[in-house]
Amino acid sequence: MDIDKPDDKETTGPEGETREQLRKYFDENRRLVMNEIFHRVSIRKYADKPIENEIILKILKAGMQAPSAGNQQPWEFYVVTNKEKIQALAAAHQYAGCAAGAPVLIVSVYRKEGLWVPEYAQIDMAIAQQNIWLETDSLGLGGVWLGIAPQQERMDKVAEILALPDNLEAFSIFALGYPAEQREQQDRYDESRIHFVE
Ligand SMILES: Cc1cc2nc3c(=O)[nH]c(=O)nc-3n(C[C@H](O)[C@H](O)[C@H](O)COP(=O)(O)O)c2cc1C
Repeated sequence: MDIDKPDDKETTGPEGETREQLRKYFDENRRLVMNEIFHRVSIRKYADKPIENEIILKILKAGMQAPSAGNQQPWEFYVVTNKEKIQALAAAHQYAGCAAGAPVLIVSVYRKEGLWVPEYAQIDMAIAQQNIWLETDSLGLGGVWLGIAPQQERMDKVAEILALPDNLEAFSIFALGYPAEQREQQDRYDESRIHFVE
């Protein structure tokens, strides 16, 4: 596809909307995406209920829509529903325990080879992970990002559990499910952190 002349009829939206429909929608609802930003919280308790595959795919579509340095898209996603693997990943470090109760873990990993600017790969992955988190919230589910990279020991542990090939590095674990807890978001706005340089 010629990115300078996008095909307006191409179905590119999360629900299969055409580019033309998405443009119209955003013209009319420009601020809606901020709802998720101001609603998302860490959810660490989950109902004992599986998540449909089509929901997982929708969440990952949002992840893959992230910007990346040089558009290098370094990501691969491992969707883990195997109970033993979930237990092993929940034991990957001392703050990952809540993953044990999740029906699904999404482990985001990145390629080490063939990247345009590999030094930006973890930054790219963080943006994809945030998109995944926001889409999870918008679909009425809840989740929490469990930090893996840049701590090499954790990255190696996750790679071992998932038997990742040598060219892949683990970035994060995202535990998600139908929420079994409710939390209010904190207001973190602090005007003293803003520095106008005129
Ligand atoms: C890079 C990163 C790593 C995190 N790692 C963990 C973790 O290992 N365990 C955990 O329970 N929460 C983890 N969190 C969640 C944070 O604790 C949480 O986002 C923060 O306390 C703010 O709360 P909120 O997400 O409800 O707004 C992580 C969040 C980020 C962004």
